[in-house]
Amino acid sequence: MDLQHLFNVRGQGAIVTGGASGIGLAMVEALASQGAHVTILDMDAAGIDREVDRLAAQGLSVRGRVLDVTDRPAVDAAFDEAAAAHGLDIVFANAGIDPGPGFMAFSDRGQRLPEHAIEHYSDERWHRVVGVSLDAVFYAIRAAARLMKPQGRGGRIVVTTSISAVRPAPGVGMAYMAAKSGAAHLVRTAALELARDRIRVNAIAPGPFVTHIANGRMQDPAVQAAHAKLVPLGRMASTEEIKGLALFLASEASSFVTGEQVVIDGGASLGAVD
Ligand SMILES: NC(=O)c1ccc[n+]([C@@H]2O[C@H](COP(=O)([O-])OP(=O)(O)OC[C@H]3O[C@@H](n4cnc5c(N)ncnc54)[C@H](O)[C@@H]3O)[C@@H](O)[C@H]2O)c1
Repeated sequence: MDLQHLFNVRGQGAIVTGGASGIGLAMVEALASQGAHVTILDMDAAGIDREVDRLAAQGLSVRGRVLDVTDRPAVDAAFDEAAAAHGLDIVFANAGIDPGPGFMAFSDRGQRLPEHAIEHYSDERWHRVVGVSLDAVFYAIRAAARLMKPQGRGGRIVVTTSISAVRPAPGVGMAYMAAKSGAAHLVRTAALELARDRIRVNAIAPGPFVTHIANGRMQDPAVQAAHAKLVPLGRMASTEEIKGLALFLASEASSFVTGEQVVIDGGASLGAVD
């Protein structure tokens, strides 16, 4: 068997939501560098311009559309447009926001934040987080299924969840955990339904990655040191480290994997070692 062929995505049509920054941008780079035609859907217009220009200058096939992933008609239209341009083989439903802090600040374990207790959790915050991390994932999977099924060549859908979908994290807030674990179960349900169409649906559950989430909080050395203590491998991850798993789930290399949530967290969900 030709192992190079296993990871081949050349000529395939792909969409990455939240692809202008962080983990999503690394997914875009992984796919485009291997010859896929990638459409970034993101609300950050300047970020799309910057990254599309940079990647196009490297000869990669990357385009972008500005939208909010909770804007369902805009999502449907952007999926239609991307599929008309290149077909649709791969969808990464990745966009997300950090709604923290939770009832504890993540770096001050043991210290509760009374102003963030459940009785002060607003409807607006709840609906915004669930809108981005659960409703929008449903919109993306539904649009992908609608377009992939009639193509008759299967497809791969990958949702970015979080280790917060595996175990509660007091630092990020209840809406995030509920939405991410809801998205993980949506992945299993969709995988079951879409299997006969050879559309595989999986999730990537990251631990702490250095990205621009939460207004760049993950770039702060003090925050990185606090996270590193909770990770058995002793550090946060670089976004480069998502690329191998992303390409695996986007390609034939994962041909018998569906309905799975793959944790990529340096062992953090196993528990801290000291
Ligand atoms: N960084 C981490 O430690 C970490 C850990 C676990 C899970 N995640 C998840 O990874 C995913 C990517 O986050 P990241 O850390 O790369 O963050 P990031 O802020 O660097 O990138 C997120 C991108 O999504 C876009 N986005 C956010 N809300 C949007 C919306 N409503 N519509 C369109 N675009 C939107 C942003 O503009 C940005 O380009 C998220 O789902 C996040 O929950 C991140």
